[in-house]
Amino acid sequence: VDKSLLNPNALAAAGSGWQRFFRRAANYFRPSPRYLSLSVSEILQTQASLNVVERFNDLYYTGGTARALHWKGIELLKTPCDLWMVLELMQTLRPSVMVETGTHRGGSALFFSDMAKVLGLPTKLVTVDLNPKWTVDPQGQGIASVVGYSTDPQVFRQVQAHVQAALSERPGAVLVLLDSDHSEANVAKELSLYSSLVTVGSYLVVEDTNVNGHPSFPAHGPGPWEAVSRFLETDTRFAPDAECERFLLTTNPRGWLKRLS
Ligand SMILES: C[S@@+](CC[C@H](N)C(=O)[O-])C[C@H]1O[C@@H](n2cnc3c(N)ncnc32)[C@H](O)[C@@H]1O
Repeated sequence: VDKSLLNPNALAAAGSGWQRFFRRAANYFRPSPRYLSLSVSEILQTQASLNVVERFNDLYYTGGTARALHWKGIELLKTPCDLWMVLELMQTLRPSVMVETGTHRGGSALFFSDMAKVLGLPTKLVTVDLNPKWTVDPQGQGIASVVGYSTDPQVFRQVQAHVQAALSERPGAVLVLLDSDHSEANVAKELSLYSSLVTVGSYLVVEDTNVNGHPSFPAHGPGPWEAVSRFLETDTRFAPDAECERFLLTTNPRGWLKRLS
């Protein structure tokens, strides 16, 4: 094998002068995609686009694909696009702490903790669940696993203590994800407690705002979407950041709340 051919510059220069000329001419006339740099609000401006996005989101959710994601063999209940959005936030904010309510099998906490290591971030993961179903040792992974109802004052004090300990070691941003019981009452309580942990410029991610017909699972009853709507009526520190929905597939429509003040 002529190793020089593996170098793209050498490859481009390969061939006779005429061959190079025709190659360049052919490339010139080949159609290339036209990328519009639209914001997500611009993309969703028309009812037709909105319908496509909502129908695709509903298809993804109800089709069962939503439960087909794994990290290191552990079930993880998020869409790949939402996971990637959190990774984008992690890279921008470089959080000192991430707090998650709803551990489930630990898949999401382990994924974020592993990604923090890959990205060289000093992020401590704190996760709360009344019944976590770990298949790995969270402590061994550097994850703080708090057991109990997320809105129990004693449990919340434990979370606060973990956050304070991490911030005293590494002052910085705190990012919060709410993914436990998706009833409106529980999410409302979590919003009032956990919003205080979020630092200015960081995010409070309210998951599964898509249920109760937004656009999926219309029989769910009032849930995260309704809790967020009520929360935003009185709490002006936060506003939904539509740009966090730019990958179009999300189970958290209007649920990416940025802390503005
Ligand atoms: C949707 S799952 C969490 C999924 C996980 N974050 C993931 O992405 O893989 C919800 C979890 O919340 C827990 N849970 C339900 N109600 C809760 C509550 N009030 N407090 C704490 N955890 C709760 C359940 O035990 C369940 O494991």
